[in-house]
Amino acid sequence: MKMALRLKTGSHIAETSSKGNQEKWLENGRWYKLDLFGYEGLAETVTSALLAKTNVEKLGFRFVTYHMERMEVHRHIRNGCSSENFLRPGEEILTLADLFHKGVGPSWQSEVGNLPNLKSKIQWMVESTRRLTGLDRFGVYLTMLFEADMLFGNEDRHLNNIAVLRRGELFDYCPLFDFGAGLLSNVRDYPMEIAPRGLLRQLRAQPLNTTFPRQVHAAQALYGPQLQCSFTSQDVTFALAAPLDYYADRDRAYLRDRIETCIATQQKKLEQSY
Ligand SMILES: Nc1ncnc2c1ncn2[C@@H]1O[C@H](COP(=O)(O)OP(=O)(O)OP(=O)(O)O)[C@@H](O)[C@H]1O
Ligand SMILES: [Mg+2]
Repeated sequence: MKMALRLKTGSHIAETSSKGNQEKWLENGRWYKLDLFGYEGLAETVTSALLAKTNVEKLGFRFVTYHMERMEVHRHIRNGCSSENFLRPGEEILTLADLFHKGVGPSWQSEVGNLPNLKSKIQWMVESTRRLTGLDRFGVYLTMLFEADMLFGNEDRHLNNIAVLRRGELFDYCPLFDFGAGLLSNVRDYPMEIAPRGLLRQLRAQPLNTTFPRQVHAAQALYGPQLQCSFTSQDVTFALAAPLDYYADRDRAYLRDRIETCIATQQKKLEQSY
């Protein structure tokens, strides 16, 4: 039996952007997000459990830890996930979309669009971020993020899902967040009746709108390979066990297979890029 967290009707729902629009709100120092197109909460929870088995922290960066939640919203019991608010006092999150808009100007998109190749576009983002924030390891950070997105098959890395932290004039790296679209969680775009391998072949990488291998190669060519994942298929099975209990009994075996296939396939592709 899972305790359902009761939310008042009319709880504030934060502004959302892009295709996501998962309902989400901040309450008692935690951010709550509801599943929308599938099993986003499961994807977040499993991804963060596995990120704990990578070298993200050794590289000097943080990631958001997500937990499964069962929530009662407008008298319906729904699945989702929660994460501790990572903002420290006085700190705010600034997305790269905002940073470039404010720091470079509204023409930044056409400026990047006119660059000849993926490498020069990535370099533009890294150098602009470095110039505007002083974060001189941003190339390492971005490469690691692209590698993590490839590993978990997360297509939703638009420039509102890449961010820096700001406290006055001081900037810091944002903990890695929002892998909810990964692990083929969107069952509307990635139907359950299609074999996962076929779906994985179609994945596209953001923000460069290319394939995962191309996006990762371009970043690695500039800044070197970064992410090391030493986890095994048993680790994946273990990370899945408790979160899967939140989903319907009849779906569990299929979800487990789909997610295990996704990670194993993507992990192999990522290793080939090193
Ligand atoms: N743990 C957290 N700590 C601080 N801020 C958070 C946290 N989780 C979410 N937020 C805030 O909410 C915003 C959206 O979160 P997130 O990207 O996880 O949601 P989403 O529904 O997937 O959004 P989108 O569809 O726009 O990608 C973040 O940019 C951040 O401002
Ligand atoms: Mg997001």
